[in-house]
Amino acid sequence: MVENIVGTQELPFGLATNFRINGKDYLIPMVIEEPSVIAAASHAAKLAREAGGFWAEADESIMRGEIQVLDAGPEAEKRITEAKEELLEMANTCSQTLSKLGGGAKDIEIKRVNGMLVLHLLVDVKDAMGANTVNTMLEKISPRVQELTGGRIGFRIISNLCDLRLARARARWPKALLGEDVIQGILDGYRLAEKDIYRTVTHNKGIMNGIDAVALATGQDWRAIEAGAHGWAARNGYKPLTRYWLDEKGDLWGEIELPLAVGVVGGSIKSNPVAQIALKILGVKSAKELSSVMAAVGLAQNFAALRALAKEGIQKGHMRLHARNLAIAAGAKGEEIERIAERMVKEGKISLEYAKELLNG
Ligand code: MEV
Repeated sequence: MVENIVGTQELPFGLATNFRINGKDYLIPMVIEEPSVIAAASHAAKLAREAGGFWAEADESIMRGEIQVLDAGPEAEKRITEAKEELLEMANTCSQTLSKLGGGAKDIEIKRVNGMLVLHLLVDVKDAMGANTVNTMLEKISPRVQELTGGRIGFRIISNLCDLRLARARARWPKALLGEDVIQGILDGYRLAEKDIYRTVTHNKGIMNGIDAVALATGQDWRAIEAGAHGWAARNGYKPLTRYWLDEKGDLWGEIELPLAVGVVGGSIKSNPVAQIALKILGVKSAKELSSVMAAVGLAQNFAALRALAKEGIQKGHMRLHARNLAIAAGAKGEEIERIAERMVKEGKISLEYAKELLNG
């Protein structure tokens, strides 16, 4: 898959449980090195399940590709508009399969940015992430765009801000399960995330803990997902990707919306057997279903973090797992692991040295 390879890096692969999304139960494959994330997502899903679980949906898989045109003539916009169908047809010669599935290049938008003309090619990539298809199409039509505009072609590349390919999820957490104080704490914390960028970034990081973990498990380009998510969050000044509010009964509602360019077909997934297994466990049939699930996981992860922060703080759970890891690193085996971890947590002395001391003494 890559160059100069000398090995592979392994990360833990776990399954989050309790997820009900649009009335269907899912086991969620997550690949992540951070303790507590999978447990937290599972717990948030369990609490949401009491009120029906998550409702999620995704837009069609429309990606944008950009062609930069320098020194375009004054008639450039008009000439591109007149040749739109010709350009779309030319782009669609790049993928017969996509056209057969009803996808392919669908539209063209033109902008002037910083004295340059930028052509956006909008492509429905269906069940693929789409970068290869879009980039191939852009390179195919560029010479014709050059002729039409009388300019010079610069960059031809997909945009990772796929603002036409959004996924959304929503859930309700009953007051009876959370308690009024915790709900208030969550809403107070959320109000901080709305206005304080130092908190907003951390708030969104917690969301991406869940989304990236599913992305890694299922073989997605998680850098593209990260870039898109933060670009979307920053479109009107950097904001949280989720929103929370109370209904008339005092139950807490949460909602997430973000761009998600994911695929269930394509080269990098085909050549990655673990990703194939993850997709099989998840049981998703389309890229839209996968992105809906990922939006629900992002919301669950965020809710779990806010709930923990509003309650006991996140260190308690973290430290329990951290203590186990240290016990293992010190050489503990089997039952010793729990015994040493528990003792360290109880005494508030969590370190590798102390784990070794307990093991050897
Ligand atoms: C840690 O990986 C993620 C959190 O910091 C997220 C948050 O603060 O909302 C717990």
